[in-house]
Amino acid sequence: MTTPRTVLEALTRSPLGFLRTAWPWRALGYLLSGGVFATGVYLGVGGLFAAPIGTFARVLCAGALVVFAVAVAGPLEHRRLALVDRGDSGSGRGDPPQRPRTTGYGAVSVLAVGWMDLAVALVSLGIPGFLLLTPFQPTALPWQTVAGPVAGALLLPVAAYPIGAWAAVRAAVGRAVLFPKDRELREVVRSRARLVDAFETERRRIERDLHDGAQQRLVALTMKLGLATLDLPPGSAAARQVGEAHALAKEALTELRELIRGIHPQILTERGLPAAARDIAGRCPIPADLDLDLPGRLPAAVEQTAYYVTAEALTNIARHSGADRCRVSARCRDGVLRLDIEDNGSGDADPARGTGLVGLADRIAAAGGRMLLSSPPGGPTLLRAEIPCAGPSS
Ligand SMILES: Nc1ncnc2c1ncn2[C@@H]1O[C@H](COP(=O)(O)OP(=O)(O)OP(=O)(O)O)[C@@H](O)[C@H]1O
Ligand SMILES: [Mg+2]
Repeated sequence: MTTPRTVLEALTRSPLGFLRTAWPWRALGYLLSGGVFATGVYLGVGGLFAAPIGTFARVLCAGALVVFAVAVAGPLEHRRLALVDRGDSGSGRGDPPQRPRTTGYGAVSVLAVGWMDLAVALVSLGIPGFLLLTPFQPTALPWQTVAGPVAGALLLPVAAYPIGAWAAVRAAVGRAVLFPKDRELREVVRSRARLVDAFETERRRIERDLHDGAQQRLVALTMKLGLATLDLPPGSAAARQVGEAHALAKEALTELRELIRGIHPQILTERGLPAAARDIAGRCPIPADLDLDLPGRLPAAVEQTAYYVTAEALTNIARHSGADRCRVSARCRDGVLRLDIEDNGSGDADPARGTGLVGLADRIAAAGGRMLLSSPPGGPTLLRAEIPCAGPSS
């Protein structure tokens, strides 16, 4: 099972298991950081109004403090959100685009709802805390000094649930406001009819022609030139020239073999998708993290589609994104292969500006799947391919 990416996912997927994860602590950190910040601002403003300075100076200083707090709160909200939401929105991965909505959301958090975060955390923990401390209360009866701590110890883990639930609500609102619809994955328009099958047939024909025709001739030529060098007097001008021709023929053979491999990746046929993806990632100039969790070999058509998606997406990242990190992950769930390729680059990928992404959408559609793309200006970019993979092939 994949690890949850949000506190809500962790809470709903396994309510009991939730207690054994770091998510309750992350939720508590999320609420306390917001609550303490907001309370600090209120206390600061209150302190200024009590200070022995003139009314004008009080209003000026309080105003400056609130403006500063609101300016800091926007970016802070983004960072805090990463504590409880590691989802596709990209929260926690670099700074968000500076938009008025970030500042607005920060202002509402500090001025209006920050204290609620603190209240939820304090009440949830305060009740079991109070019960745990019963033995130290002078008015406590003997039975209360035993029953109180027992009830407190039992209630303490329960506190994780209101804290987690409130953090989930706040995170959902934060995500919706800070990462609005332009960050959602959108399906790239594709057409099954765009000659994918014809392309595939032609590709195979060219591959066979090269393999059986030109490659065999080049092998024969290389061998003949090698033998000719042996027959010529060593060190003679003729031997040197034939030797050079031999070296050139060998280079041409290597290039042709690479060309054939590119058309029909041998590593994919022989060793499957994970090895082929590692091979592509190894050649990508941008460091790529791989997270491939696949149940053995998949049907050949699925592996091939996934291979070309990975190759084009990583090529695009190297060419256009300006990213310094990228990630390829693949999972097979409920008969669907989900392949995600993400980068932390500049975003704004647009299928209308090239042929690569549209070609991929066609290829995936021909395999019965769909392609989704999220690439807001400023990044990050996530390309997702969902391809039916009904059962591993032998
Ligand atoms: N990962 C990415 N990050 C940023 N921009 C991207 C990314 N991928 C694609 N783009 C942008 O989207 C455009 C379309 O990409 P697409 O792959 O369709 O075409 P291309 O790479 O320019 O050319 P080709 O047809 O050779 O693939 C690119 O020109 C580029 O501007
Ligand atoms: Mg491209």
